[in-house]
Amino acid sequence: MCGIVGAAAKRPVAKLLIDGLKKLEYRGYDSAGIAVVDAHHQLKRLRVAGKVRELEAALKAEPMHAHLGIAHTRWATHGVPSEQNAHPFISHDQFALVHNGIIENHNHLREKLKREGYTFLSETDSETIVHLIHFHYKQSQDLVRAVRAAVNELEGAYALGIFSTDTPRRVIGVRQGAPLVIGKGQGENFIASDPLALLSMTQQFIYLEDYDIVDVTLNSIHIYDKQNALVERETHNLSISQDSIERGEYRHFMKKEIMEQPDAIASCLEGRMTKDHVLSGIFGPKADAMFADVKHIQLVACGTSYHAAMVARFWIESLAHIPCSVEVASEFRYRDIAQAKNSLFVTLSQSGETADSLAALRLAKKMDYLSTLAFCNVPGSSMTREADLQFLTRAGVEIGVASTKAFITQLTSLFLFALLLRRNVTSEQSLEVQLVEQLEQLPVLVQKVLQQDQAIADWASMFTNKQHALFLGRGALYPIALEGALKMKEISYIHAEGYPSGELKHGPLALVDTNMPVIAAVPSDALVEKNLSNLQEVRTRGGKLFVLTDQAHTFQQDGFSGTHVISMPKVHPLLAPILYTVPLQLLAYHVAVLKGTDVDQPRNLAKSVTVE
Ligand code: M6R
Repeated sequence: MCGIVGAAAKRPVAKLLIDGLKKLEYRGYDSAGIAVVDAHHQLKRLRVAGKVRELEAALKAEPMHAHLGIAHTRWATHGVPSEQNAHPFISHDQFALVHNGIIENHNHLREKLKREGYTFLSETDSETIVHLIHFHYKQSQDLVRAVRAAVNELEGAYALGIFSTDTPRRVIGVRQGAPLVIGKGQGENFIASDPLALLSMTQQFIYLEDYDIVDVTLNSIHIYDKQNALVERETHNLSISQDSIERGEYRHFMKKEIMEQPDAIASCLEGRMTKDHVLSGIFGPKADAMFADVKHIQLVACGTSYHAAMVARFWIESLAHIPCSVEVASEFRYRDIAQAKNSLFVTLSQSGETADSLAALRLAKKMDYLSTLAFCNVPGSSMTREADLQFLTRAGVEIGVASTKAFITQLTSLFLFALLLRRNVTSEQSLEVQLVEQLEQLPVLVQKVLQQDQAIADWASMFTNKQHALFLGRGALYPIALEGALKMKEISYIHAEGYPSGELKHGPLALVDTNMPVIAAVPSDALVEKNLSNLQEVRTRGGKLFVLTDQAHTFQQDGFSGTHVISMPKVHPLLAPILYTVPLQLLAYHVAVLKGTDVDQPRNLAKSVTVE
């Protein structure tokens, strides 16, 4: 997963490319580079092992005056993060190339090119592509044909930005399995991995389809499809405000995005329900009739989105009695699936570009599912374009690598979905009325939880010297325990595990001693007594208990002395997963801040995982 930008413009491009890269750092941030064609039609390149700000500093010391160029921010796959392995790659001082994706047959191509006399200076798969283009260009002397011939030899996923000093006014882009958009400007045109990179330059975008090649100059855009036919692709106007991609008053995007959750939930619900029921038709005109035939649901996702899928299983089985299977996409795509009859395939993704989830969706489309449905936060993403049905979660742009508001709106959306499916099994309306009223209240309830920010920050100071933490929950709160643990691992680098509370005694209890913080979500629901017994098991072994609950008084009794408690608002037990997520996000955030980690760009990770 990397970010790429390319520009052909009347005005100088170096700053535009750096600004674009800054917006793409969520995709990877271990090294960065830029290449341009200067006024003498010479190729100039600058690369650093480090973040975009370091590239920017290097560029100040060594400015580049040019009207055409490409740039890259990297998340290392093949080869360590180093200047040598940073993009752009060059062939014969003539071709420059940036790549996002993975080339699976790069070893074979590398050997072939070595036999042709090419020398490799990096350990990357990407460097093979630039030499391959050079190799084909020697034969055809035509840049688009050379790129087509080269990509025809590639196996894997790629989005590429390329230029040649022979044709110094053209940037070429091509994609297969990794995102690439064209930004249309006035007297300038761009390519990028994500429209976000270009928002300060344009609001007009064209999404490329797989195998499209685009030939961009400052005043022309030509797109060629897989058969090399010149094609038109639709232009989309994107109305994302610049503010939504700035940190504003916040120190970190993650905190901003946590605090935005009441608004994100309200936006997700807007126009999708009345005061007492969920509107039919919100999944599209064909969906309701198809939902009536659904006898099984297969949910597939990765990471945080997978946790949302796990909560959805609980809701759908409990409200609509439809059996569900939930699986991580990287497993689903590589095993033999015993497919249930009349099954609906559902995938979830914040980005809509996660390689494993997309591959699972593509696989599902070849199988015998009733239909495919994607819950996604990014309009226009590959997933929304490829699934039969789409449901936009409307969290707004999420930049922090740790997913927060996107998760909350996934849950909110999935709850609406479960309520609609419930109509398959009952015409009884009072529960729906009650739950819709609670949904309406949700932004206010989440706001109340956010007011506990300082209390949670106080908890955080008791975690900074810990190596491990256990998160517990039962029922639909078990995936929330997993999510709390994931957030903690991801940004504070504390090893954390989520467990169903009742599973503790089957092994993990052996880990509990006076050094082990145990965080438990204990809403007043049917399982509260069971939960309390599990927490006693922890307490009697000296474990430090941190409890989120709407019945704080229980923990003031003798049996629980020394327990740290955060009081939660009362909520319908079915909606507790949404509310109880919020303090766990804040806890991970504050621990990370106290530990001084890079909260928005944690080590080794990237926001959009477009490699498998
Ligand atoms: O964009 P997606 O929702 O498909 O991403 C899936 C995971 O990579 C993502 O949720 C990841 O686990 C987050 N960094 C967690 O905070």
